[in-house]
Formats: sequence, structure tokens, C-alpha cells
Amino acid sequence: MQTTTTALLEMQSIGKRFGAVQALDGFAMDVEPGEFVTVVGPSGCGKSTLFNIVAGLEEPDEGGILRFKGRGCHAKELLGRVSFMPQRDLLLPWRNVVDNAILAREIEGANRAAMRAEARAMLPEFGLAGFEKQYPHQLSGGMRQRVALMRTFLFERELMLLDEPFGALDALTRSMMQRWLLDIWQRHRRTILFITHDVDEAIFLGDRVLVMTARPGRVKLMRKVELPRPRKAELVTSPEFTAIKREVLDAIEEEAMKSFVAETAA
Ligand SMILES: Nc1ncnc2c1ncn2[C@@H]1O[C@H](COP(=O)(O)OP(=O)(O)OP(=O)(O)O)[C@@H](O)[C@H]1O
Ligand SMILES: [Mg+2]
Repeated sequence: MQTTTTALLEMQSIGKRFGAVQALDGFAMDVEPGEFVTVVGPSGCGKSTLFNIVAGLEEPDEGGILRFKGRGCHAKELLGRVSFMPQRDLLLPWRNVVDNAILAREIEGANRAAMRAEARAMLPEFGLAGFEKQYPHQLSGGMRQRVALMRTFLFERELMLLDEPFGALDALTRSMMQRWLLDIWQRHRRTILFITHDVDEAIFLGDRVLVMTARPGRVKLMRKVELPRPRKAELVTSPEFTAIKREVLDAIEEEAMKSFVAETAA
């Protein structure tokens, strides 16, 4: 009997070795269309490596299975099919804010004037109103991050990979951007994979929180977050939220200890 699959992305037995470093080993997960999955785990456990694979920039080692929309594929076939905001913002220093934001669409061949107009209209939503002509070196770290996020957003794909997109933002801007992202996600029904080191953020945003093990990275815990949406700021002090947080923190602490011991012994 043929099994039908609904997952947008499926990964089984995914491994990745860089020389002596085994970054990922036996990693497996499915992502359903429209889901928001947040990823946490100790530094160096392979989170960015995982995203590089799904973005088509790195090929996993032999023996792993990768499927997109039910079809088995090589990682490189996913290049250009997902929108990806890498951990480093990769803004081009010689392009201003608007021209950096439209870069991915321009490469695709979109009309430059039309894209610029679209990007300009989005500036206020990203807290960048009045900054369209500025160059990256004239922006703060948080602003650069928002330009990179805007670029990722303009490159409309079903699956968005965001690698610590709010890492450089102050607490206020960060919670504003979180609410903005949830709103966009709910209106556009994109599928999002989101890396963060902030457990509150992971739970507040996610349908599921994936906790990775210390390197080699695998799934330590996949915790469903059954908190009602739209999510309000007060939610983070509710008993339900706190219970999930305890569980996620316990899993992370166990793994962080392992990577700490491994590093001090090395
Ligand atoms: N291109 C590469 N060449 C060699 N080693 C690499 C490469 N990319 C990643 N690594 C190694 O793989 C491991 C996992 O790195 P990765 O960047 O995926 O971690 P991470 O979980 O994203 O960490 P962080 O939370 O600090 O961003 C690290 O030991 C890193 O040094
Ligand atoms: Mg990383």
C-alpha cells in the first residue's frame, strides 16, 4: 500500500561531518505545511549546519534522506526554493537599505523599480522608515538584522529559514518583531523554521520547539506548544508556559553540560 505524505519537509538519518567534527548525526524530523518550528540547542550543536542543508548550501553525508513536498531530493535542489536568513546578515556594503532588501528578488529577475517600490512600502513595518538611502555601515546591528529579515521576507517562498533573526535586537524591538512575525505568518501561512537561543522566544513563537543535543546534533526533545493563538505578551507568565519552559530548559541544560564537559576535556 502506498503511504501518502503531507509533510512539506522530511529529514531522516541526516548526518554531516566536517573533517574530524561530526556536526550532525542521525538527525530526523518532519515539518508540516504552515507550521512554525523553533530550534534551540547548545552553541556548536549543528543548528546552522542543518539550515545550510535545507537551504541547499551544504549536502548532507551519504545515507540520509531529504524530501521536499514528498519528493526525495539532494540538498542542492532546494537552493532558491526556500527563503533563508543566515546567521550573519550578508548585506552588501555598497548597496543601500532598499537595494539590499530587494537583492534576492533582483537576482531572480524581478523588475527593479517595482521591487524598490514594494520594499519602500515595507520600511515602516520593519522600523526602517527614513533609512532607505542609508548604507549598512551607517546602521546599527539591529537595523542590519531587520534589513536582512526584510530581504528574506521579500523572497517569497513557502518555507522560511531564520537563523537567530532577532539576536541583535533590544528586548523591546525584539518583542515587537516577534509579534510582527507571528502576524505575518498567520496572514500569509508560510512555514517557518526559526533558530534562537532564547527559550521564551522559542515557546512564544513555536507550534513545536525542537531541542537539539550537544554535537553531534540530533533531536533531544520535540515539544508541542499547545498555547492558544494569537499569543499575547501575558502568556509568558502563565502556568502552561512555565511548565513547557521547565521541560525545555531541563533538556537544554543537560545538553549544555555535556558540551561544556566535552570542551573542557578536549
Ligand atoms: N563549513 C564548515 N567547515 C568546517 N566546520 C564547520 C563548517 N560549518 C560548521 N562547522 C562545524 O560544525 C559544528 C556545528 O556548527 P554550527 O554552525 O552548525 O553550530 P550552531 O549550532 O549553529 O552554533 P551557534 O549556536 O553557535 O550558532 C561546529 O563545530 C562548527 O565548527
Ligand atoms: Mg549557528
